[in-house]
Amino acid sequence: MSKLKQNFVCKNCRFNSPKWLGCCPECDTWSSFEEKVENTLLKNCNTTVTLKTLKDKINIPERLKSNISEWDRVLGGGIVPGSLSILTGDPGVGKSTLLLQIANILSSLHEVVYISSEESLDQIQLRAQRIGCQDSNLKFLDNSDLQTILSTIKSSPATIIILDSIQNCCMQNGNFGSASQLRDVTFELMKFAKQENVAIIATGHVTKDGIIAGPRTIEHLVDTVLYLQTDDKNQTRILRSVKNRFGSVNEIGFFEMSSDGLKEVSNFSQQLVSEASNSTGSVLVSSFEGSRPIIVELQALIVPSSFGMPQRVITGIDHKQVILIAAILEKYLHVKFSAQDIFFKVSGGIKLKEQTTDLAIALSLLSSYFQKSLPAKSLALGEISLTGQIKPISQAQGHVKEGRTFGIEKFFLASSQKIEEPKKDCTFLSSVYELLKLFPE
Ligand code: TYD
Ligand code: MG
Repeated sequence: MSKLKQNFVCKNCRFNSPKWLGCCPECDTWSSFEEKVENTLLKNCNTTVTLKTLKDKINIPERLKSNISEWDRVLGGGIVPGSLSILTGDPGVGKSTLLLQIANILSSLHEVVYISSEESLDQIQLRAQRIGCQDSNLKFLDNSDLQTILSTIKSSPATIIILDSIQNCCMQNGNFGSASQLRDVTFELMKFAKQENVAIIATGHVTKDGIIAGPRTIEHLVDTVLYLQTDDKNQTRILRSVKNRFGSVNEIGFFEMSSDGLKEVSNFSQQLVSEASNSTGSVLVSSFEGSRPIIVELQALIVPSSFGMPQRVITGIDHKQVILIAAILEKYLHVKFSAQDIFFKVSGGIKLKEQTTDLAIALSLLSSYFQKSLPAKSLALGEISLTGQIKPISQAQGHVKEGRTFGIEKFFLASSQKIEEPKKDCTFLSSVYELLKLFPE
């Protein structure tokens, strides 16, 4: 006799019954029977896998290193095999140039294929000549059809694929240029990268607001998202990682666009310190960008306002922070910033985010206001509270050590800041009132 199906269960004691009952014969509870819902997902599935523990040995893949240290560091130590990364940035910033250079270097050790879905082979060859890699082993393909691309790579396997760009890649039955197609292409690339253990780096377009064009979901699908940025006015390019499953985020790398490709700038702080002047309104500050401190120059220009509403033109830093520091100085030092125009910028195209810059902002504003410069190569580090106290910052020792190696001669720090000896080059300040003494009549 076949086993009776037991379709109803008592909520109270889990007693099973083939039909609904008003009162449970087991626990005497009334109206406690409910229909059992069968789990259809598991109904016909007999596949199981062995569970592992974190102690089990796993094979950590060796990263693929280029000899461009700025690129390797931003990626967390090199490209991870089987990963999918997106490099994005404004048109003309140098995405194709950077990836062609990386592909060229890696092609001497690995099988690398450069696929262009935007440019023809002739155009790529012209760029290759410009950056001096026309004799490399790098393989090329100019095709935008995803199925063709993936089947080509499957028949002649590669370790690294560069895809320029992901937005121009299409699927045969897809709707070209649509958000859903971009998502499908990304999903297929991710699957292919994991299955074939091939690292894929694709370029992506950005919208007017500077984020990856298309659905945000592609950022969630991929392993690494890199932005290549510029401040328009100079040739410096900043490579920033905003998502990295295999390394720290907010790590930045510096490059300079030259007539023969992008050149890495490993001593960016050194360059800025040597260029910094001891003119009025200029103060150096150090800020952690990823794993290393970067020294940048803050510049302020204070002029009497000719309009009723004074202007505040601030770039490279949160404008509210500068306005707040100006308000604190006005309140406690009676400096009339409210009748002045404030122009403020950060040199080198860097965007500062940390609060460690409060003291440097204050010194820069006062230096321009009083038309008196601080000693040459001065660096300030500290937070300022709304009550006018100067507060210590974390990791100050690291900033000071880095500053000394780059030739900083004077440090302005909070009086409660703990610093190892020697401290001869440090001036300690406890409140904003002491700042006036730095600009004597
Ligand atoms: P490109 O890599 O094509 O930018 P993207 O792929 O981000 O659109 O770079 C284009 C710009 O870089 C273009 O304005 C020319 C300039 N460039 C140089 O200055 N030097 C070079 O060696 C190369 C290859 C490009
Ligand atoms: Mg390009």
